[in-house]
Amino acid sequence: MSKPKYEDAVAITREIHWVGFYDEQARLHCNPYLLANEEDIVLFDPGSIPHFPIVMRKVIDLVDPGDITAVVASHQDPDVCGNLPVLEDIINHPDLNIVAHSNTIRLIRHYGVQSSFYAVDKNDFKLTLKSGRVLEFLFTPYLHSPGAIVTYDRETRSLFTSDIFGAINEDWSLFASGDYLQAMET
Ligand SMILES: [Fe+2]
Repeated sequence: MSKPKYEDAVAITREIHWVGFYDEQARLHCNPYLLANEEDIVLFDPGSIPHFPIVMRKVIDLVDPGDITAVVASHQDPDVCGNLPVLEDIINHPDLNIVAHSNTIRLIRHYGVQSSFYAVDKNDFKLTLKSGRVLEFLFTPYLHSPGAIVTYDRETRSLFTSDIFGAINEDWSLFASGDYLQAMET
């Protein structure tokens, strides 16, 4: 498979785009994704402060950030959601929800997040979007943090796995190739 143009958002399905930051020097990448249909816009794992300008440019290429109503933080790591306070300022939406497990919320409060939190463990591990589409969350404790979750979008049968299949690899690619298991072991 030829490498996608990482400087742009990469379409995974018609409604889901990778909006991440490809750093040639880094051996570790966070993978933010945007789910957008006519009624709902959800951002997953928005990334770190240094990644923010690139992630936001890709988001703006696709949608009006003011229309984002939910940001899912699969866990609290700074590379995964350290840019939340800057992001919520740009989104500037009174109904914005930061979606996470209570064990994660306890920690990401300390980033200075002002938006409302939606604790998945207190909402039957589900989030119903405006369109009626239901995002399901699976609790994956200690993979690799006490509040880690993954998100399943039944409509497109997409699982947002965050760091579960994380690997360290100098030859980074958005799509796993033959030597990926070895990179995961590293
Ligand atoms: Fe992590």
